[in-house]
Amino acid sequence: MRRRILVTHALPYANGALHFGHVFESVQTDIWVRFMKMRGHDCLFCCAEDAHGTPIMIRAQQEGVTPEALIERTAQDHRRDYQELLIGFDEFHSTHSQENRRLTAQLYATLREAGYVRRQQIRQAYDEPAGMFLPDRYIRGTCPRCHSPDQYGDSCEVCGSTYSPAELIEPRSTLSDTRPVWRDSEHLFFRLGAFEPMLRAYIDSGSLQPGVRAKLAEWFEAGLQDWDISRDAPYFGFEVPDAPGKYFYVWFDAPIGYIASFERWRARQSGAGAETFDAYWRSEQATELYHFIGKDITYFHTLFWPAVLHGAGLRRPTAVFAHGFLTINGQKMSKSRGTFITARRYLDRLPAEPLRYYFAAKLGSGIEDVDFSADDFVARVNADLIGKLVNIASRCAAFIGRGGGQLAAALPDPALYAQFAGAAIRIAELYEAREYAAAVREIMTLADEANRYIDRSKPWVLAREPARASEVRAIATQGLNLFRVLMSYLAPVLPGMAQRSAAFLGVPFESWEAVSEPLLASPIKAYEPLATRLDPAAVAALIEPPANATPAHATTAAKVPAGATAPAAEPALIGIEQFAKLDLRVAHVEQAELVEGSDKLLKLTLRVGAEQRTVFSGIRASYPRPEQLIGRQVVLVANLAPRKMRFGVSQGMVLCASGEQGSGVYLLSVDAGAADGMRVS
Ligand code: MSP
Ligand code: ZN
Repeated sequence: MRRRILVTHALPYANGALHFGHVFESVQTDIWVRFMKMRGHDCLFCCAEDAHGTPIMIRAQQEGVTPEALIERTAQDHRRDYQELLIGFDEFHSTHSQENRRLTAQLYATLREAGYVRRQQIRQAYDEPAGMFLPDRYIRGTCPRCHSPDQYGDSCEVCGSTYSPAELIEPRSTLSDTRPVWRDSEHLFFRLGAFEPMLRAYIDSGSLQPGVRAKLAEWFEAGLQDWDISRDAPYFGFEVPDAPGKYFYVWFDAPIGYIASFERWRARQSGAGAETFDAYWRSEQATELYHFIGKDITYFHTLFWPAVLHGAGLRRPTAVFAHGFLTINGQKMSKSRGTFITARRYLDRLPAEPLRYYFAAKLGSGIEDVDFSADDFVARVNADLIGKLVNIASRCAAFIGRGGGQLAAALPDPALYAQFAGAAIRIAELYEAREYAAAVREIMTLADEANRYIDRSKPWVLAREPARASEVRAIATQGLNLFRVLMSYLAPVLPGMAQRSAAFLGVPFESWEAVSEPLLASPIKAYEPLATRLDPAAVAALIEPPANATPAHATTAAKVPAGATAPAAEPALIGIEQFAKLDLRVAHVEQAELVEGSDKLLKLTLRVGAEQRTVFSGIRASYPRPEQLIGRQVVLVANLAPRKMRFGVSQGMVLCASGEQGSGVYLLSVDAGAADGMRVS
């Protein structure tokens, strides 16, 4: 049966570049959509820029441009990135559009008339010099619970507590650096609480991911709070029609942007009238609706959004597919570590498909985080994609080329082909269930089998005997047919390679069922390399080297004109979060040696928990007999970026006290009781 399906992924904010997290989500969604299309379903993929909100307004002000200009420029960058990443949107629109303005006003009016909107005075922080109310994130101050300075207005990064900005000690506006005042203002609230029974039933009926189910249970337990859907001017968004000076909160009109994108698509189809809208947005049976999102925006998509839709008389999502976060080399993406990799940085260096393949090879249906490891990426792509998959085609193509460019009329091993073609059912189930990693594993197991077939058939040996030319061609035909099946299974992941393979084999990869029959007696084109090996150096360059070795000095240097010397000043104050970035560990000196060719350095071999590190330290003058250090515990800065020195790579720094030149350098010691690997704080 041909299913009608509408798919979206989260709308990226229009004030910044797409990064690896966005790419991860786009690739996950795109694979699913391409797969559904190959299955012959009527599957539509709609997305848009999320263009509203305070950060966009502030960013535009800072750049001295209008918000419209900012979102337009960002949209162009995003489009180019998506295109090069081979993300096949059917429609890509914007929440700052006439369709979204109309729909937002319509949904709001229906909700209000049905009694789902109430007004209430609230007290909020106001920045007088900036002339605006402050979102919690724009207020910083001392945490009321643990007294850590410089925390956000809604939560403390040090002790993890959440609170209201009114509780913050010594609050400051991050915009004007003044103390905010408190002002009253009337806001519009969506009565989420009124939907609790509906939401409970809805959630029970859907097939939720276990992690999401647990989160929802917690939220129901805590009780559903009514939701403030308005913001005061100045705000970049849509003005509330019956409340001048009030704007819809960005998260109110953002998901409506899904419908706006669809409406824009519909306007471009001939004969798609109001009944098409109804089929997608009024009936829960006529069309399946799926939202791919990151786990951080689950609340909006599983509670607010279904409630808004239901309250407005529209259908609810069939399911929401949340994914975990992408980490880089085991850690959260971070600008200071250089691991905040943008799509552009990647695309300027490397082709999209290896990355699509790697994400697919790691993606499951759960909400666990997924790691991008640079080394693993290179190894996986070169071993699987090049070493296994492409290898089959390149090995066999040559033999057909010599044989006149025509495939043989029969397969020497039809049972093997049938085994490959028969895997279609199982692999389809895995794709549909978003178990891409498992699908890729099955496909690569088959690829191993195809390579073994070629290895044992040894066409290169037979090719030496002209009399056996037809045998050779038959083997190559078998090999290319196996390749075709595998490429077909991977076509949702590797659309560009599939296209190049289609040109080579002379048949398209458009239908999942096409490979049920082998390709025989047909001409093939000259083989062009389908993909090339990843260069580890190019992959390593994805991670930006730190701009300056020591950030503390870098800030001073930046303020001092070139050629001038920085005045000997008090050390600059740092916040707790800067301090918290240091990973200080107790380390055990296992080995300490002189370094040949250096009269300053000692080479220390340290044990830090399970790990061993080499550190070069300039303490030889104070410790001329390094073996005395063996067995001591020292304090190690464990997250200092490795530094290449003339004598080797130094993996961290040990803490020492030192004064004026010549006054000596003294290692800090650790009191009994601290074990190596322990965190120093
Ligand atoms: N604009 C909102 C979404 C509105 S949807 C009606 C938003 N934008 S975002 O740009 O911050 O994030 C877009 C998507 O990227 C979200 O689904 C988010 O979870 C996802 N990711 C952002 N960083 C991520 C990772 N590091 N890893 C995986 N996905 C992450 O939220
Ligand atoms: Zn705190």
